[in-house]
Amino acid sequence: MNFLESRTRQNLARAFAAECQAGARYQFMATMAQNEKLFYIKDTMKMLAKNEMAHAKLFYDFIVQNSGKDSVVEFNADYSYLEAKLEISLQKESEIEKSEFDTIYPEFANTAREEGYEEIAQGFEKVARVEYSHFKLLEYLYNKYQSKTLYKSKLEQLFRCTNCGHLSYQSDAWKKCPLCSLDQGYIMIDYNHIFEESSKIYMDSDKY
Ligand SMILES: [Fe+2]
Ligand SMILES: [Fe+2]
Repeated sequence: MNFLESRTRQNLARAFAAECQAGARYQFMATMAQNEKLFYIKDTMKMLAKNEMAHAKLFYDFIVQNSGKDSVVEFNADYSYLEAKLEISLQKESEIEKSEFDTIYPEFANTAREEGYEEIAQGFEKVARVEYSHFKLLEYLYNKYQSKTLYKSKLEQLFRCTNCGHLSYQSDAWKKCPLCSLDQGYIMIDYNHIFEESSKIYMDSDKY
């Protein structure tokens, strides 16, 4: 299979563009969160943006390594341009992440495997697993955001100010930190369980 004529090369270019755009949109979302004084969500979106740029780098490098010289790739694809609102962005981005895990990257992996590019197939699969955890995280944040429960819980839970480290068990967190007076938006949102659940689900998935 000549890489320059492969579908895998086109898929890598599409994936590279999609990852760059997701990275850019997540930076935009970080600014939206900052404007709403949701500083922990701002930092979370920056972390996700960084993840997407790492995925972009992987796909970019595959193209460069296999093309043999400077390369221009032409392709057709649909990309998302979303309304600049945090709530709708959290919802739509979670759906985009889900489609990458459910269909897009598994299909790209199958094509790469059929065309004899096993390492690239595994690259798509590894990235798909990360996108699953992104899907779950964005879905979680969307649900908390739209129900206005980012800093509330039914039972008392531990809230922590990421600025000064103030800790307290409450069911409804402070509006201003009692220690440093900074906004509620600095409180850590505990989403480690999302990554733990995600890692189990994709390990069990018959896709991989
Ligand atoms: Fe990604
Ligand atoms: Fe992602």
